[in-house]
Amino acid sequence: RLTKFKDTAAIVGQIGDEIQALVAQKTDAVICIAGGDTPLPVMKRLVDLKRNGSIDFSKVQFLGLDEWVGLGYDTKGSTRQTLYDNLYHPLAIPEAHIHFFQGDNANLQEEIDKTDAFVEQYGIDYMLLGIGMNGHIGFNEPGVGDDLMTHVIDLDTVTTTVMSKYFDDDLPLTQGMTLGFGQILQTKHLVLMATGEKKREIVKQTMASDMTRQIPSTILKKSVNETNFYVDAAAGELVE
Ligand code: F6R
Repeated sequence: RLTKFKDTAAIVGQIGDEIQALVAQKTDAVICIAGGDTPLPVMKRLVDLKRNGSIDFSKVQFLGLDEWVGLGYDTKGSTRQTLYDNLYHPLAIPEAHIHFFQGDNANLQEEIDKTDAFVEQYGIDYMLLGIGMNGHIGFNEPGVGDDLMTHVIDLDTVTTTVMSKYFDDDLPLTQGMTLGFGQILQTKHLVLMATGEKKREIVKQTMASDMTRQIPSTILKKSVNETNFYVDAAAGELVE
């Protein structure tokens, strides 16, 4: 279900209200927020809501969505650093409540197993996703299966081209690890957010196209609970 907002601030207000209502009702909710640039203003809003006493995150569990294979907290631009610096540390989330891929673990199967076990046990209450220029969701790249659990995947060329915006240096990254659609589609509150005119074309394709593995964002049309797609005026210019 697509909703067009005037600007990023309006989307951020909406998502902040949704998370506030969720945590008020379920204090130990499981929340998963994507990395990348799009959710950063939402993270700032959540930190403000905690500072003014509007949300108590002390029992909330945070789950990672994806990570670049090979990267850990020390690399600026890793999903881990983005989430820890902008959200978990400012919210003072205890480490025991953070479930996040260690992208630099030599044994990635360990990361996969512990993530799958966590999702299996607790499920996911709220997930905020961004959308790649190729429609990727997390690191579910074009061609991905729609029933996978956590997995390692080769990065698409669009992703390896766009990724330089996150990193200070050119990094030889070729793979990512990600929650799969088998997990994402089961989420209770699923929100996809797109802002800015660069996302205009993929927003249009996502809405216009039938479900296809070539545009992973279209797979969200199969979500168990409706996916809310929040776009600002710029990203939503080509859709009704
Ligand atoms: C990052 C992630 C990616 C991004 C997508 C959009 O953790 O899950 O799928 O959401 O690449 O990135 P931005 O928001 O930087 O345009």
